[in-house]
Parts: sequence; structure tokens; C-alpha cells
Amino acid sequence: MMLSIPSLVLDLAVIILGDTDLKLTRQLSSDCDIRSPTPSQFRLSYNRVRRTLHDNELTTLSKSMFAENVSLEHLDLCDNNIARPTADFFPETNRLMLVSNNIAFIPEGMFQSLKNLSKITFYGNNLSSLPAGLFETINLTFSLDLSNNSLSVIPRGLFSAYGGNHGLLILQLQRNMLTCLWNDTFQGLGSLAYLILNRNLIHSIAERAFLGTHLKCLYLVANNISNVHYNSFALENMDIHLYKNNILNISQKALNGVGNGSTLYMNCNQLGRLPLSTNGNIICVNDETFPSLKLTSTFTLLASSFEKQGFECQDIGKGRSECGPCPTGTLGGEFGKKCKGCPKGAVNI
Ligand SMILES: *[C@@H]1O[C@H](CO)[C@@H](O)[C@H](O)[C@H]1NC(C)=O
Ligand SMILES: *[C@@H]1O[C@H](CO)[C@@H](O)[C@H](O)[C@H]1NC(C)=O
Ligand SMILES: *[C@@H]1O[C@H](CO)[C@@H](O)[C@H](O)[C@H]1NC(C)=O
Ligand SMILES: *[C@@H]1O[C@H](CO)[C@@H](O)[C@H](O)[C@H]1NC(C)=O
Ligand SMILES: *[C@@H]1O[C@H](CO)[C@@H](O)[C@H](O)[C@H]1NC(C)=O
Ligand SMILES: *[C@@H]1O[C@H](CO)[C@@H](O)[C@H](O)[C@H]1NC(C)=O
Ligand SMILES: *[C@@H]1O[C@H](CO)[C@@H](O)[C@H](O)[C@H]1NC(C)=O
Ligand SMILES: *[C@@H]1O[C@H](CO)[C@@H](O)[C@H](O)[C@H]1NC(C)=O
Ligand SMILES: *[C@@H]1O[C@H](CO)[C@@H](O)[C@H](O)[C@H]1NC(C)=O
Repeated sequence: MMLSIPSLVLDLAVIILGDTDLKLTRQLSSDCDIRSPTPSQFRLSYNRVRRTLHDNELTTLSKSMFAENVSLEHLDLCDNNIARPTADFFPETNRLMLVSNNIAFIPEGMFQSLKNLSKITFYGNNLSSLPAGLFETINLTFSLDLSNNSLSVIPRGLFSAYGGNHGLLILQLQRNMLTCLWNDTFQGLGSLAYLILNRNLIHSIAERAFLGTHLKCLYLVANNISNVHYNSFALENMDIHLYKNNILNISQKALNGVGNGSTLYMNCNQLGRLPLSTNGNIICVNDETFPSLKLTSTFTLLASSFEKQGFECQDIGKGRSECGPCPTGTLGGEFGKKCKGCPKGAVNI
């Protein structure tokens, strides 16, 4: 039996038709069929998608679940129980959101027929590995969010398999279990500007690990880095956030390798000797004086990510935001709101 997605919905789903929110109940009435007019955005989040026939949780998607000829620019399937994602039956999809599902594995061919995907979000799933060829057929052009998963390794060649540079600007890998960054880990990401890696277990960063990117911000807070190699941070005009690590000693040579115009933010109180700042600029921070991040309009999408992890972001005009950490013992609120009291057990960054 063929099922169309609305008939699978037990709770409420919203299909966004331009500016109009069309509310669907269990049964879709004939005059608001998904086929007419064709929706460009489809949001099925905060549902528990189940098959009506067997009452099994929906673990996979297939073309037959959607009405014929549906063309979706924005496919939002957040907060369901999807285990095996597919979306290749919507080749024009531009934004794919699979936040908080139950995805442990992304099939290698998942992006094969998606030709115009620019924002991809897998935040809060159960990914522990990725197939090395996952991005070999797609040009990642704006943002990729793989944060809050269980990734312990980035397969070698993951981004270079495409054979040219991806256009990716933002890569979010925070809150995983990564331990090492090799000199080819980010190869193929020639436009990358924001690399967010806080809260992993990174202890080793190869020389020239970021060479070839265009990083403006490298966020390595709360890892297990004890040693900084010469040339690890050789890019120019980059902010390197290195506090909440395990650095007891940093050599003058390593510091001399910090790119011109770059700023290294780090904890200095545990350093045996205060280093001499040469080309690069070292700014010492402590837990009460974490620097805030200014995000230009292109990157404000990161504000909501930082707000999920103990930051408070303010709109500072012209589409820009500034995010600063909430004081210890408080937690970030909603966008533009003040930090709230800290619930028991919550942590910053
Ligand atoms: C789907 O598109 C094809 C080709 O554009 C068309 O022939 C067909 O009638 C459409 N089907 C529906 C249900 O609109
Ligand atoms: C790609 O997606 C963007 C944003 O949705 C859209 O403006 C553009 O027309 C799409 N390009 C193609 C070739 O479909
Ligand atoms: C990470 O994802 C899990 C599973 O979706 C969720 O329970 C948890 O709250 C998330 N953690 C954060 C910090 O958002
Ligand atoms: C996550 O995946 C692991 C196997 O990699 C599995 O043991 C675990 O049960 C999964 N967690 C959830 C919440 O499904
Ligand atoms: C990928 O897209 C970007 C634009 O976002 C472009 O600059 C780059 O050349 C493309 N890469 C390839 C290999 O076509
Ligand atoms: C990357 O590191 C390997 C050793 O692990 C070395 O042989 C290779 O030359 C390095 N590549 C670059 C571009 O630095
Ligand atoms: C941090 O790194 C040290 C070695 O520098 C290692 O002994 C320790 O187990 C690591 N801690 C974690 C949590 O990975
Ligand atoms: C910084 O600039 C100076 C002068 O242009 C140059 O000699 C030096 O090698 C540069 N340092 C780095 C780390 O790029
Ligand atoms: C830092 O390490 C270097 C060698 O790696 C050593 O010569 C120096 O004494 C150390 N400095 C401190 C303050 O521990």
C-alpha cells in the first residue's frame, strides 16, 4: 500500500507554503493536498513519525511516502526517530535538517542526486563514523553541522574526495569524540572560514593541519591539547580559541609559527613561563574572561549553536551578532535573551 507522508503523521505537521503555514491534522483534507500547490518547504519536526499500519517507528524515508512531483527547497525532519536517512528523491533540496533523530549511519550515496544542497544539519544524532566517499559527489557550499554526535575520527580524504574545493564556509564538529586532526583532515575545504571543534578529545594537531583553508575562527576550546607544533596555526588573520585545554608549556618556536595577524586566545596561568608574543598576538583568558565572538551576517547561523552551549548572543545591528559566554553557573537562553540560572548538572561550553 502506498502511503503519502501526511497520512503517516499522528501529531501536527506544518507544511510551509511561502509565508503561509498550513496545518495538517491526521487526515489531509482534499483541498490542502501536498500536491496543490506544490510546497517548497516541508517541515515535519517535533513529531514522532510512526507508520499507521503497524505502529512501528519510521526508520527510513522513501519516495513513495511523499506525493508525486513534490519539489522541496527546505526539508526539515528534525526530532523524529529516523535511523537511515535518505533524501535523494528531492534533488533540488537546498536545506536538509535531520536534527535529533536516531541516525547512527549515513549511507555513502546519500547525497548523490542532491545537486543544490547548501545547509546540512545532523546535530544530535548517534553518528560514530562517516563513509569516506560521502561527499565525493556533492559540492558542500555553505554549512555542515555534524555536532553532538559520537564521531571519533574523520575519515581521511572525506573532503578531498570531491576532487576540487568544496565551497563550505562553516563546519561544526563540536561535542564529538575526535582525538586527532591530520594534515589532510580538512583538505578540500578551501573556503572554510569557521571550524568549530570544542568539546572533543583532541590531543594531537598535525603541522599544517589547516593549511589551504581560509579560517577566520578556529574554535578548539575544551579539548585535551597539550602540545602545539610549529606551523599548526600558520594561517594569517585567524582567531584561535585554545583555552580549556591542557597546555602547560608552549615553545617560542611554536609561537613564532602563528600566522601574522592571527590571535591566539589561551589560558596562561598554567603556563610555566609566559611566552613572548611575536608575529601573532597572544591573549590570555581565564574562565571569567572568555572572549566573545562577533559574527557577521553570513555567519549568524552559528549564534543559535553557541546559545545551545552556554553563550548569550545579542543582535549588534547590520545582521551581525555578538556571542559571549554566560557567567559560570548560568546557561544561555533563547536568541537575544539574558543568560538564565544554571539547571543542576548543566555545563558551559
Ligand atoms: C508530474 O510531472 C510530470 C512531468 O512534469 C507530469 O507529466 C505529471 O502529470 C506530474 N504528476 C502529477 C501528479 O502532477
Ligand atoms: C539553489 O537553491 C537556492 C536557494 O534555495 C535557489 O535560490 C537557487 O535557485 C537554487 N539553484 C538551482 C540551480 O536550483
Ligand atoms: C545532544 O544530543 C542528544 C540526543 O539528541 C540530546 O539528548 C542532548 O541534549 C544534546 N546535547 C546538547 C548539549 O544539546
Ligand atoms: C548509538 O549507537 C551505538 C552503537 O554505535 C549503540 O550501542 C547505542 O545504543 C546507540 N544509542 C542510541 C541512543 O540509539
Ligand atoms: C564549489 O562551489 C563553490 C561555490 O560555493 C565554488 O567556488 C567551487 O569552485 C565549487 N567547486 C567545484 C570543484 O566545482
Ligand atoms: C602530511 O604529513 C605526512 C606525515 O604524516 C607527510 O608525509 C606529508 O608530507 C604531510 N603533508 C603536508 C601537505 O604537509
Ligand atoms: C588527555 O591527554 C593525555 C596525554 O596528553 C592522556 O593521558 C589523557 O588520557 C587524555 N585525556 C582524555 C580525557 O582523553
Ligand atoms: C610574518 O611576516 C613577516 C614579514 O612579512 C615574515 O617574515 C614572516 O615569515 C611571517 N610569519 C609567518 C608565521 O607567516
Ligand atoms: C618547555 O619545553 C621545552 C622543550 O620542549 C623545555 O626546553 C622548556 O624548559 C619547557 N619550559 C617549561 C617552563 O617547562
